[in-house]
Amino acid sequence: MKVLVIGNGGREHALAWKLAQSPIINQVFVAPGNAGTYREPKVQNIDISPLQFEKLTDFVKQQQIDFTVIGPEAPLVAGIVDYFEAKNLLCFGPSSKGAMLEGSKVYSKDFMQRHGIPTAKAAVFTDLEAAERYLEKSKYPVVIKADGLASGKGVVIVHDKESAHLALYEILAQKRFGEAGNQVIIEDFIQGEELSFIVICDGEHYIPMASSQDHKARDDGDKGPNTGGMGAYSPAPLLTETLHDKICRQVIEPTLKGLAEDGIPYKGFLYAGLMISPEGDINVLEYNCRFGDPETQPILMRLKSDFAQLCLDALHQKLDTYQIQWDAQVALGVVLAANGYPDNPHLGDTCLTLNDIPPGESYKIFHAGTKIEEGRIVISGGRVLCVTALGDSVQDAQAKAYRLVKKVAWDSVFYRNDIGFKAISARSENA
Ligand code: GLY
Repeated sequence: MKVLVIGNGGREHALAWKLAQSPIINQVFVAPGNAGTYREPKVQNIDISPLQFEKLTDFVKQQQIDFTVIGPEAPLVAGIVDYFEAKNLLCFGPSSKGAMLEGSKVYSKDFMQRHGIPTAKAAVFTDLEAAERYLEKSKYPVVIKADGLASGKGVVIVHDKESAHLALYEILAQKRFGEAGNQVIIEDFIQGEELSFIVICDGEHYIPMASSQDHKARDDGDKGPNTGGMGAYSPAPLLTETLHDKICRQVIEPTLKGLAEDGIPYKGFLYAGLMISPEGDINVLEYNCRFGDPETQPILMRLKSDFAQLCLDALHQKLDTYQIQWDAQVALGVVLAANGYPDNPHLGDTCLTLNDIPPGESYKIFHAGTKIEEGRIVISGGRVLCVTALGDSVQDAQAKAYRLVKKVAWDSVFYRNDIGFKAISARSENA
């Protein structure tokens, strides 16, 4: 079989790498891919962008590709799955209506409120003055969110009135996130620990993926500005069996039922970004209509089942009989970013040392913002690599990942030194 993966990040490298391991897959194409997918056996990059739907479907027909897996949110929100399906092509991901759960935070807040899904109290504004009046009466911190897609940067937690007014002004008046900031949500801040709960859905059934947590803040100690994610690990010790069941009952099932009631059967990965309070209460912070990045990298390192068969069974609505299997080891991924990430990443350095790292069973260097130029690997995006390792414990996986990080680091690299620290302190508290 042949499969096409859409996207060029670390998530898509992991998707392509895992699909290529399947005995039923002969060839994986990635559009457009990165230097990591370029170097991967059985994988070929295609120079077509994720939003060029017509070129993509022409390519799929010409190459007789059996099915397509969509990585990022932008093509999903823009309707890539609807476009492929209108041409009778198998495409794994939600329809544009399903992707609205991520495409519009105003829509998803309304959806959660209508379907009784736990989420923080919030108000929606298009008018700056009305929003400013609301901020005068708010209790701090508050969370300000741009409505539309903003590459993971559209959410700001503000601790005082002055920074709240500034953030609001930047979004609504200065259009920091363009059209995505035409509406804002001002939301109560909820204390707790974040958890990523990702499920694969076939329109009727779902299977939870292995649990994971990511570190969204740029700096050690979970400080600094929000990013797309500076590292992640799986499993998440926070997720007990009881909490797992509660999340399925209170969030996943009502979400899928609510979508079906709204006439939107959901097929694809569904990511619920959750806040778990110290008392174990659950609140949905956001939905994503795709697999997480960088969560995909450690999660797929632990997947023992055939990933291509899993996607095919989801496409054919057969997840109710699929038995998913996970490696019991811990996987931990550290993101290596270009200096200046997330606001102003310095691009153009070359990663020189990657050829010295032989392939290994217990680690993997996933590429994100890299491309091949004149035979060299050149940095082309803020998040550059995700160095991921398996270990017997979080400490073990962390030590292995950081040993490898030191080997591949370049002069102006930026990375956090403490990925997994919460999992390590949770383990020692529970010991
Ligand atoms: N790691 C957060 C995300 O994928 O949006």
